[in-house]
Amino acid sequence: MDAIAELESRVKQRAVPRHVGIIMDGNGRWAELRGLPRLEGHREGSQSVREVTRSARRIGVSALTLYAFSSQNWSRPPDEVAGLMELLREYLVKERDEIMGNGIRLAAVGELDKLPRYVKEPLDALREASASNTGMVLTLALSYGGREELVVAVQAIAKKVAAGQLRPEDITEDTLSQATWTSALPPVDLVIRTSGEQRLSNFLLWQTAYAEFVFSPIAWPDFRGREFAEALLHFQTRERRFGLTGAQLRRAGT
Ligand code: FPP
Repeated sequence: MDAIAELESRVKQRAVPRHVGIIMDGNGRWAELRGLPRLEGHREGSQSVREVTRSARRIGVSALTLYAFSSQNWSRPPDEVAGLMELLREYLVKERDEIMGNGIRLAAVGELDKLPRYVKEPLDALREASASNTGMVLTLALSYGGREELVVAVQAIAKKVAAGQLRPEDITEDTLSQATWTSALPPVDLVIRTSGEQRLSNFLLWQTAYAEFVFSPIAWPDFRGREFAEALLHFQTRERRFGLTGAQLRRAGT
């Protein structure tokens, strides 16, 4: 067994997080350190996307959500935005066989109508083709912002109230969860952020209420299957208390 397979088999012996979210940070710095254009960092980062997705699938993670392009990223220099959109298109076209072959369902969250047609079309095609796959849900957060998502969710709820279909006192946490773009996904168990920064940057604000965080100093282009399995092993050392005490949890046998 090679080193990565051994790490993955160790992860599988304990509780595997159902939903992992990743903030793929550090592509630009990775490239700049090597005297390369920033886009080369994003290109190498696409290879990490492939390898980490494979590893998550082998380990048995049910949902993997990748923060690929934030609502705020539209303000980057136009050539970087265009380069990222090209890379996304390339990924959606080239990865089709891999995604279908591995029984992965591709999903997307964000203000998807803002994406150029040459990204939106292959995205919609792969979402549709993979809709009945049951292996793992791979969600790309594209033109995504957590605050933007909550505004849209609250607007949808307010419309129901205004139309007399919902009483304000009947609004629950579940009402809001159902109105988010991730309504079909379980809550996030683990957020991984690469490249040393320790912040959420508008990623899945509602869904990460009880998530554990693993911050890696490694830049995303160097973050591969081994680093992913190590992050999951790290997660498995944490005691998740959900507001209870450690003693209460031990009594409940969880
Ligand atoms: C953050 O690094 C990364 C992004 C804004 C884009 C992430 C995109 C990819 C990994 C490639 C394409 C995605 C897919 C799904 C194929 P940064 O540029 O902010 O890095 P820096 O902080 O070092 O500048």
